[in-house]
Amino acid sequence: MVTQQKPKAVIVIFGATGDLAKRKLFPSIYRLFQNGKIGDDFAVVGTARRPWTNDVFRNNVEKSIESDTTTKEELDAFTSHFYYHPFDVTEPSSYQELDALLEKLEGNYQTDGNRIFYLAMAPEFFGVIADNLKEHGLKNSTGWTRLVIEKPFGHDLSSAKELNNEIRAAFDEEQIYRIDHYLGKEMVQNIEVIRFANGIFEHLWNNRFISNVQITSSESLGLEDRSRYYDHSGAIRDMVQNHMLQMVALLAMEPPIKLTTEEVRSEKIKVLRALRKMATDEVDTYFVRGQYGSGHMKGNDVSSYRDEAPELAKSNTETFVAGKIMIDNYRWAGVPFYIRTGKRMTEKSTKIVVEFNDIPMNLYYENKQEKHPNLLVINIQPDEGITLYLNAKKSGIGTHAQPIKLAYNNNGVNAINTPEAYEKLLFDCMVGDTTNFTHWNEVEQSWAFVDPILNAWDKKMPDFPNYPAGSMGPKEADKLLEKDGFLWWPITDN
Ligand code: BG6
Repeated sequence: MVTQQKPKAVIVIFGATGDLAKRKLFPSIYRLFQNGKIGDDFAVVGTARRPWTNDVFRNNVEKSIESDTTTKEELDAFTSHFYYHPFDVTEPSSYQELDALLEKLEGNYQTDGNRIFYLAMAPEFFGVIADNLKEHGLKNSTGWTRLVIEKPFGHDLSSAKELNNEIRAAFDEEQIYRIDHYLGKEMVQNIEVIRFANGIFEHLWNNRFISNVQITSSESLGLEDRSRYYDHSGAIRDMVQNHMLQMVALLAMEPPIKLTTEEVRSEKIKVLRALRKMATDEVDTYFVRGQYGSGHMKGNDVSSYRDEAPELAKSNTETFVAGKIMIDNYRWAGVPFYIRTGKRMTEKSTKIVVEFNDIPMNLYYENKQEKHPNLLVINIQPDEGITLYLNAKKSGIGTHAQPIKLAYNNNGVNAINTPEAYEKLLFDCMVGDTTNFTHWNEVEQSWAFVDPILNAWDKKMPDFPNYPAGSMGPKEADKLLEKDGFLWWPITDN
């Protein structure tokens, strides 16, 4: 048996005092360490403006790891790999000192000169940092160097292009790992397998047998304390341009000829290229936006978006989007892919419903108007699994039908060992697998699709708020489907 070598690297986190580092990155690195995916040959350098010491940093790392099974000694052994380096992203000496520190750590930890630069901070600094890393020789180590970038990647197509040009001036495409954390989710990765490893689905997976596809990613939380970022983004930039379109691409792509990064990505890119682009005056036919007003959730009153912070009092930022996406290719012509996502909706849930064409005649239901098409539901979160809705005979006398479901629940199998999205993506980055990161061509195509929507919305004042907190969004989102003869399938299983 060939045992795979554990990856070795120094990970430099820019923005190491921030929320993402604390909530996702430190715990993920810890799990990789604890599960033996990485050995002792690693170090983490946190950088940010604050004048922290190694000890303060290590303390923070320790606090971010919630584990009742770890002893203090084990935690200390882990956090001893963490170093802090106060940093000014525009100051050349910051980079020179960082380079010297990396060289030292590379010797101490035997990391073969492999470097990951993880940009977990505001996007306005991405270009500057990439440029300076090159300029000051931090890319010239003896091993590989990789750049990990968090979203948002641009604000629209032209700013995304500009940013990409800046980054590409310093790093090659193969060195750039653009994170979309949905691509690290277990059930998002499962979409491909469910589709391409099952004849009963794949042969029916086209416009002859599928009437429509519905993707809902609802959140019950509101803004939390992210108004500065979110109010300049809105739901379409925050969720649709990346996560939702990535799920559409995985659901609609052709089977790759091999499971290599290039083959998988190229199939996804083809889908994104085939998305029907809208003219500005067509946007209202395909897309609906919303912003939550006050409402009730789980017995509590919750305030409207505009009341969440003083600077939001007159905000016209959308906190909800629903859309009908058409894919103009041979497989999907005529099949709407409906998406919806928003804050302060009834509950937190991400779910895909694939609705198959109904049978031509309803023989078995007493009420002939009743519709029970077969559905394949892919539960992304919080439950992980798939449910297939079928019709079967009601027990007893007569031949009346009733809906039944076959369910597979992934949580029951190995939920404890299901690595979190970030853990998987970090590991992929360490072993040089870019499959579950977004290629520039995907980002570009996604923005090209979203741009006309942004333009149309910029031109017209919305009538906000238009849905109460705790609901499933504005009525117009329902009408989007009703006019095509469909309904949103409930997100709760009953
Ligand atoms: C992020 C968005 O990318 O995804 C957040 O910026 C959103 O606004 C989050 O809440 C949703 O992710 P998840 O994994 O909780 O569905």
